[in-house]
Amino acid sequence: MKELPELTGELFGEMMALFADGTLTPLPYTAFSSQQVVEAFRYMQQARQIGKVVVTHDQVQREAPRKALSRDALTLPEDASYLVTGGLGGFGLKTAGWLADRGARQLILVGRSGAASDEAQAGVAELEGRGVTVVAAACDITDRGALAELLARCRESLGPLRGVIHAATVIDDGLIRNLDAERIARVLAPKIDGARHLDELTRDAALDFFVLYSSATTLFGNPGQASYVAANHWLEALAASRRVRGLPASCLRWGAIDDVGFLARNTRTRDALQERLGGSALHSDDALRVLEQLLVHHGDGPLGGPTLGVLELEWGALARFLPTAESPRFGEIARQADDDGRSHDDGDDISALLAGLSPEEQRATVTELLRVELAAILLIDEEKIDVNRSVYDMGFDSLMGVELMTAIEGRLGVQVPVMVLSEASTLDKLAGVLISKLGQGTDDADDDVAELAAMAARHGAGDLENTDAPGKEPTS
Ligand SMILES: NC(=O)c1ccc[n+]([C@@H]2O[C@H](COP(=O)([O-])OP(=O)(O)OC[C@H]3O[C@@H](n4cnc5c(N)ncnc54)[C@H](OP(=O)(O)O)[C@@H]3O)[C@@H](O)[C@H]2O)c1
Repeated sequence: MKELPELTGELFGEMMALFADGTLTPLPYTAFSSQQVVEAFRYMQQARQIGKVVVTHDQVQREAPRKALSRDALTLPEDASYLVTGGLGGFGLKTAGWLADRGARQLILVGRSGAASDEAQAGVAELEGRGVTVVAAACDITDRGALAELLARCRESLGPLRGVIHAATVIDDGLIRNLDAERIARVLAPKIDGARHLDELTRDAALDFFVLYSSATTLFGNPGQASYVAANHWLEALAASRRVRGLPASCLRWGAIDDVGFLARNTRTRDALQERLGGSALHSDDALRVLEQLLVHHGDGPLGGPTLGVLELEWGALARFLPTAESPRFGEIARQADDDGRSHDDGDDISALLAGLSPEEQRATVTELLRVELAAILLIDEEKIDVNRSVYDMGFDSLMGVELMTAIEGRLGVQVPVMVLSEASTLDKLAGVLISKLGQGTDDADDDVAELAAMAARHGAGDLENTDAPGKEPTS
């Protein structure tokens, strides 16, 4: 399909014509709606079907299109109130300012520490200066009782609640092997419990919107962010479930935002993430313009689904780092991308290239290639990398190890465990190991591999070194 799209089109055309004139007939099947997946499996289990068992998306219940709030720009009524969790800092506070730009005059902004930070105090003062009544609440939204109390208090003092934006988050990244129940809960709770409480406690309110902030990482996964990605997935499922229940819900999978919030505070993490995704980070104003269109055309057109990804990416860069990019769901994007397939072709090219070189030249070529990859990961100039120095002395961490190994697999077509870096921690040594793996190596390099295999066995053959600590390797 990829190599000969015209022939593919021709063959499918001929086949469809044969179906249309009755020469071919579809296989018999029994269809179940996507809400009856369990029943579909039971049916198949009982071996009652003739032909195929098919799960369709035909009957997905969708909320009836809602009337747009206005034609082009969102105009919010002055007499209503709007709640933003995480609204006293970062992108949440920026969102609060944007709601005020669109006419909101009563805002409930929630964070565990209230308006304690300089950022929060300046933000609240700025809003109040614009005539906005701000309830800056110190409330932990994972505490249902505290949130219920806050909402009850606001019901008495403010106009009716017409919109919710759930932006609260806690970031605590780490490879799964280094997480424990407490660290996982720290990330899951504000997103999941917070959203669940908001969902339950606003049932009586006539909301125009219920917006959940998710992340583009749910599209592809992201090493080191298992809890964060899981929590955001949950939000996306909640949005879908609310829609099915006829309640407003929109979930946005934001790409990296560069001017406010977590990544603006952690620029190194932001740059590393962009290196992986390619493309540019989002400016919060542009992100909020998309949110505005989504709310204005609520339930209608291409922005009508419960979840929308808003990000810029370069497929080649992303596919190089994230193996999930190869899954069939992204087949269409991968086929269209200019650089699709480059990684696999590179492997063949490198083997052919190395075949004609002396052992010294091979080692120099692979070392040079590694230098380029490492420079991209460490975000430093290639010239600054000493190939005889341990990568760990250059600020390398365990997540970067995963990244380097993925890059090596993409460029050379060889898989090596990150553990290899424990011994072959200089690029020169690593090059020896890789050449041997490529079947081009010298006896020296073979010895390197044997030694490393023995070392890996001594360490229980783990493939990731255990160097991360809470907060050490945040990614998005
Ligand atoms: N920044 C980005 O590039 C980016 C990219 C994709 C998605 N997002 C999403 O955008 C949202 C905002 O991100 P951000 O970068 O602005 O994060 P942030 O600057 O870290 O702000 C998160 C806010 O949530 C509050 N919070 C945490 N736990 C809470 C709890 N239990 N109850 C009440 N408030 C709580 C924090 O205040 P306290 O500490 O005082 O509680 C903080 O102000 C998040 O949902 C995030 O997933 C951001």
